[in-house]
Amino acid sequence: MTMKADTAYMLDVRNLRKYFPVYSKGVIRRQVDEIRAVDDISFRLKGGETLGIVGESGSGKTTASRAILRAIRPTGGEVWFESDRLGRVDLAQLPDKALKPLRQEMQMIFQDPFSSLNPRMTVGDIVGEPLQIHDLATGAKRRDMVAEMLEKVGLLARHMQRYPHAFSGGQRQRIGIARALIMRPKLIVADEAVSALDVSVQAQVINLLQDLQEEFKLTYLFVAHDLSVVRHICNRVAVMYLGKIVEFGSTEVIFNRPQHPYTKALLSAIPSPDPDEPLRPQMVGEIGDANRFAGHDMTPVFHED
Ligand SMILES: Nc1ncnc2c1ncn2[C@@H]1O[C@H](COP(=O)(O)OP(=O)(O)OP(=O)(O)O)[C@@H](O)[C@H]1O
Ligand SMILES: [Mg+2]
Repeated sequence: MTMKADTAYMLDVRNLRKYFPVYSKGVIRRQVDEIRAVDDISFRLKGGETLGIVGESGSGKTTASRAILRAIRPTGGEVWFESDRLGRVDLAQLPDKALKPLRQEMQMIFQDPFSSLNPRMTVGDIVGEPLQIHDLATGAKRRDMVAEMLEKVGLLARHMQRYPHAFSGGQRQRIGIARALIMRPKLIVADEAVSALDVSVQAQVINLLQDLQEEFKLTYLFVAHDLSVVRHICNRVAVMYLGKIVEFGSTEVIFNRPQHPYTKALLSAIPSPDPDEPLRPQMVGEIGDANRFAGHDMTPVFHED
């Protein structure tokens, strides 16, 4: 461990890396290469803020957020987290067994509301399961907590007895949110949490996330393709390209005065507000096409606030 992190930040990520080995085909497999999915990223986030992580497909957004939450083990770097239980800890260095109590403080909301909920469990069991895993409540107490959380996310207590298939996509996303929030976490990673939803339903779920943020003082890491959503809900934005953060700053600066050529290209691909034009993901070319920015200054840009 190196120097102690600044105490004003809930999350202080330093030089985080996640490399995946690439093996040869054939009987004797040996490592021939590595994919630098996350390649030395650093940023800090204050409690109660929402950081948007944007960038095209394959830029490393999911890998970065999973490495931060220690859903996967980073290859290197530090992830300082302000824990209620353990104080300031480097999640990257923590042994697996020390992570379990911290799971209560950090939760994920997943992209696909159709595949992320176990179809054979009732909604009550799905939302209440974290309480069981962490031995926090049983019986009537657990049921009461689940009922309360379902109502907080805009569902009904009696929905507990139903199975996920009986709900719409937006409702399922609410179930996923209830499950994530039942242990009162402080940090939420939402990876494309509204991308699979219809636009009108998307707006409702975004409003819900904002209301819950206020009520529970949540800090969000919000991974998204959709820049208009990010612009609407994030205080800060990290732009990722080829495993690196190429630009980081307040939402206002990133959207109104972007400096990095990649950010400019990404923003120029925002879909037209014309409703007749189909919404497209924010793709501005092929990942790995090194010639895209030939002749441009690709030095990362970090804006001070
Ligand atoms: N488990 C893995 N093993 C090997 N390579 C991986 C693994 N997970 C991700 N990668 C690679 O790491 C890179 C970054 O992937 P990642 O899923 O983080 O991108 P992303 O920005 O989340 O993309 P998307 O917008 O499509 O979700 C890609 O090249 C991907 O193929
Ligand atoms: Mg992803």
